[in-house]
Amino acid sequence: MIQINSHLAGLQNNYLFSEIAARVARYKKEYQQKPINLGIGDTVLPLPASAVRALHQAAEEIAHRHSFRGYGPEQGYSFLRALIAEHDYQQRDIAIHEDEIFISDGAKSDAANIQELFSSHSSVAIPNPVYPVYQDTNIIAGRGSTLHYLAGTADNDFIPRPPSEQYNLIYLCYPNNPTGVMCNRGMLAQWVEYALENNAIIVYDAAYESFICDPELPHSIYEIPNADQVAIEIRSFSKNASFTGTRCAFTVVPKKCHGYNAQQQPVALHPLWLRRCATKFNGLSYPVQRAAAALYSPEGKQEIQERVSYYMQNAAIIRQALRNRSIRHWGGIDAPYIWLEAGGDSWKLFDRLLQHAAVVTTPGAGFGSCGEGYLRISAFNLRENVERATERLLQIW
Ligand code: MLT
Repeated sequence: MIQINSHLAGLQNNYLFSEIAARVARYKKEYQQKPINLGIGDTVLPLPASAVRALHQAAEEIAHRHSFRGYGPEQGYSFLRALIAEHDYQQRDIAIHEDEIFISDGAKSDAANIQELFSSHSSVAIPNPVYPVYQDTNIIAGRGSTLHYLAGTADNDFIPRPPSEQYNLIYLCYPNNPTGVMCNRGMLAQWVEYALENNAIIVYDAAYESFICDPELPHSIYEIPNADQVAIEIRSFSKNASFTGTRCAFTVVPKKCHGYNAQQQPVALHPLWLRRCATKFNGLSYPVQRAAAALYSPEGKQEIQERVSYYMQNAAIIRQALRNRSIRHWGGIDAPYIWLEAGGDSWKLFDRLLQHAAVVTTPGAGFGSCGEGYLRISAFNLRENVERATERLLQIW
């Protein structure tokens, strides 16, 4: 008799954004109306023209026998990894090299899969509230009983500091999803120090890095000395370049980064991740990697900047409205999410806002127990929708 992976039963019935989508579908059926979506962080501005051109050119290349390409390298094409290493790291004086970069189909997949590098007995620390993927994938892998939560509350501005307990694997996400807060260099340095002292690894999800506006804030965990020994960084083209449907992200596993075997000897993580990718992945499609590479051209960079500014202006509109009504909120300055104090049951408030304002938000409770009483508002929508939704929300607040 085939036995199921019983750890799957430890998950909540629905993934957060599937539950929201189901409630929205019910609403649409009942009210025959499409609500404004400030829930899931999905982009609305089109793919940058530079990326579209590169997609067309790459499609044309693979349409001919002489320039056809089949399987690509599982780690990603060198032309893209070299651009990432140069523009995202070396130009910021960070010594990350192209062979330390792994191209993937999304930050979500990478954040989900990276735990496969570590023993099922590893103790795992995740913030609460948190992007649910870190928690769920560790539960599926059988670490439900070794999962520990680092409370983010209004008292610490939703930025948990390193605990006194020793954990093996720590997930951090800055700029943060869901709270939109950003940690400064000193706070990040404390985490790196913690990981070095405890022989731990930090998975640093920097999918929203492009949205950092304050020039003093770190864009990469590798800006902290020695972080390359203890941190894996994940980035994405989804939100800054409208790749949510096109899919392209990358993970950095520095060659100096290591875990330990059962004999407590250090083992480099890079070859392990490469081995894992070679077994489970045949690389992202060639046209999509060409499209991502085009984002590093001057035109592509400008197009990214325009998109980021557009969403951050949306965030400023939402923040201003909340300030006018003295509603306590966080984020929206260096991240496209605003986290607001709602009071009471956040799913009930979600339903009320959907039914009476026709606006989709994300209930804080969906991100963990510390999220109860809060709502997340996403700045990813068209300006007119954001303005209309903000007005409607405040009318029935
Ligand atoms: C979110 O809204 O939290 C994100 O869009 C989800 C994701 O990126 O997977």
